[in-house]
Amino acid sequence: MISLPPRWMIFVGVAAVLALALPPVIIARTRATPDPERAVHIFFDMDFQPKFKSQTKNPLFADGRSQRYAVEGTVASGETNLDAHLNEGVVDGAWAPTLPAGMIMSAEFLARGQQRYNIYCTPCHGFAGFGDGTVNVRGMELMANTNGPPNGSTWVTAKSLHDPIVREHPLGMIYNVATNGVRTMAGYGTQISIEDRWAIAAYVKALQLSQNASLQDVPPELRGKLKQAEVK
Ligand code: HEC
Repeated sequence: MISLPPRWMIFVGVAAVLALALPPVIIARTRATPDPERAVHIFFDMDFQPKFKSQTKNPLFADGRSQRYAVEGTVASGETNLDAHLNEGVVDGAWAPTLPAGMIMSAEFLARGQQRYNIYCTPCHGFAGFGDGTVNVRGMELMANTNGPPNGSTWVTAKSLHDPIVREHPLGMIYNVATNGVRTMAGYGTQISIEDRWAIAAYVKALQLSQNASLQDVPPELRGKLKQAEVK
């Protein structure tokens, strides 16, 4: 049989443990409670430094606030998005019709755009851009259910990129849609690099042209060949 120590010893033991916990608790509480009048400063913590704390008054400024707005034109480090053409697809307040400086329209650039488009955009817009991607087809299928789509959800059809309105969109506007999304479509600015977004936009323009080209779009020296091909 286990014999317990005398009762008084248990009391003394518990009291000793409790007493041991007290000093750290008192110190922690004192450290966490600001008090400029405190007599003993074990840690100085810049307590005696000329400064204005946030939410305090500062007579130096006319509005009396110590917290100041960033000076106009301040740019946070790593966020120098000053080139509106490159970052927003805008030139002089209008959608840019051309690629930003430093990017060259070439077969290689379009091939990169095609590859990225096929990854990121085809699920909804389809390979040729008619809005017939598998995700969109499934979404429309669910919408057509007699009971409606599950859980009261809804689906807006992915627009055909050959819609006359979308065909009118300048290159910079397509870039902006790929970056920030539009209405119910989410943006891809955080997933696709800036250059790739421009390449995708260029490829979308090429896709549009592919479905709406006229003879005038074919270089004159190749038109003869085209007519021959048509005759055959
Ligand atoms: C998850 C589905 C989905 C994906 C992926 C997707 N889109 Fe869309 N997109 C939509 C939907 C839906 C709309 C129509 C939005 C609306 O009308 O509310 C749309 C509309 C558009 C439009 C027409 C904008 C307008 O002014 O009407 C463009 C251009 C476009 N998308 C480009 C892209 C490009 C480029 C990508 C790839 C980077 C992409 N989309 C990826 C669903 C998608």
